[in-house]
Amino acid sequence: MLWLPEGARCEKALLAGKRLHFPLYTAPNMVGRAQTAARRVDDDIAWKEGTLREPVLVTGAAGFIGMHVARRLLVDGRDVVGVDNLNAYYDPRLKAARISELEAFANFRFEKADIADRKAISELFAAHRFPHVVHLAAQAGVRHSLIDPHAYADANLTGFLNVLEGCRHTQCRHLVYASSSSVYGANTRVPFRASDNVDHPLSLYGATKKANELMAHAYAHLFALPATGLRFFTVYGPWGRPDMAMWLFADAIIAGRPIKLFNEGRMRRDFTYIDDAVEAVVRLVPRPPAPDPAWSGEAPDPATSRAPWHVYNIGNSQPVEVSEVVRLIEAAIGKPAARKLWPMQPGDVPETCADVADLERAVGFRPKTPIGEGIGRFIDWFVRFHRK
Ligand SMILES: NC(=O)c1ccc[n+]([C@@H]2O[C@H](COP(=O)([O-])OP(=O)(O)OC[C@H]3O[C@@H](n4cnc5c(N)ncnc54)[C@H](O)[C@@H]3O)[C@@H](O)[C@H]2O)c1
Repeated sequence: MLWLPEGARCEKALLAGKRLHFPLYTAPNMVGRAQTAARRVDDDIAWKEGTLREPVLVTGAAGFIGMHVARRLLVDGRDVVGVDNLNAYYDPRLKAARISELEAFANFRFEKADIADRKAISELFAAHRFPHVVHLAAQAGVRHSLIDPHAYADANLTGFLNVLEGCRHTQCRHLVYASSSSVYGANTRVPFRASDNVDHPLSLYGATKKANELMAHAYAHLFALPATGLRFFTVYGPWGRPDMAMWLFADAIIAGRPIKLFNEGRMRRDFTYIDDAVEAVVRLVPRPPAPDPAWSGEAPDPATSRAPWHVYNIGNSQPVEVSEVVRLIEAAIGKPAARKLWPMQPGDVPETCADVADLERAVGFRPKTPIGEGIGRFIDWFVRFHRK
């Protein structure tokens, strides 16, 4: 007999024969447990040996993190389908250049599609039945969410729902998706822990990312879809984003324009080097979260669940003042910056810092690239890229 979690409204069709992804969660009997464990071991072995031939879906593959994740998976021998709508939030030529990097791999296939397009996304999932999905497509950026909130609703809410539905109807074995450190919003106790309450976002962007975690939890609970949320902390590096501080500073210093320092440069950010973020993602993909048997509705831990759902911080755990970042960029470029001091902007937070103990326990890795080293690599790439 199937056991359903309290309050679960499982569809009739699901009960009437369609394979449930996680019998461990839906049917906690010994046979279910053994089958699930065996299937996980099979998947793990196939993943490790590189014999799992179904492609990994990477959404936002033309984006900064998406390109790096897709490239790492391709280098590791996986087949990857990349999806992106190549929108004009920032220069689409940079996105096209990232896709060109990926198209150098024979095992990469690009599909231009909008994740908010329900029909296109449903057809994409039906065609490939991806066992693993890395969902990174989103409307990013805190400040832009004050200017164009609907872009956030379309990509981050409707688009996210379409991805969840695709996973649900094709028995995806693990959905890994981008959340953000922005979910910590008004919290001031650092380091931020995944188990902290995050009910006070300070931007619509942060609110949509928190909404993603909640939507994923509902699907993990109702449809036993294993889902892992990643709260990225200010990721930077080669092929980075032109709307982010490091790019804006480098660009202005090289061109001899003044740089804007919000909160007079005293903001502290937990800058995370891209290779570290990628390492965390690829280690988590073959490890779908197990339900936490110790989770209690009496004292609910916000980071885990009785459903197969988990959220992790992906950060360097070493916040650096933005003014120090400027000094390091000046040194790497070999030219001083002209500084313009500005007040703090609406939606900004004074400090971010990740507690990554959970991540380290789960995958035996924590981001560690020192900021000076990461900035050096970013500036090397930035100068070469703009010389072309
Ligand atoms: N870079 C960071 O520091 C950071 C921090 C926290 C969270 N994140 C999250 O990580 C993910 C990746 O961020 P990034 O820095 O690579 O951003 P990015 O903007 O470079 O990448 C996102 C990609 O998604 C694509 N996209 C946007 N809307 C789409 C839609 N409707 N359909 C299809 N494609 C769409 C964009 O064209 C872009 O290429 C995002 O979800 C972002 O919110 C990033």
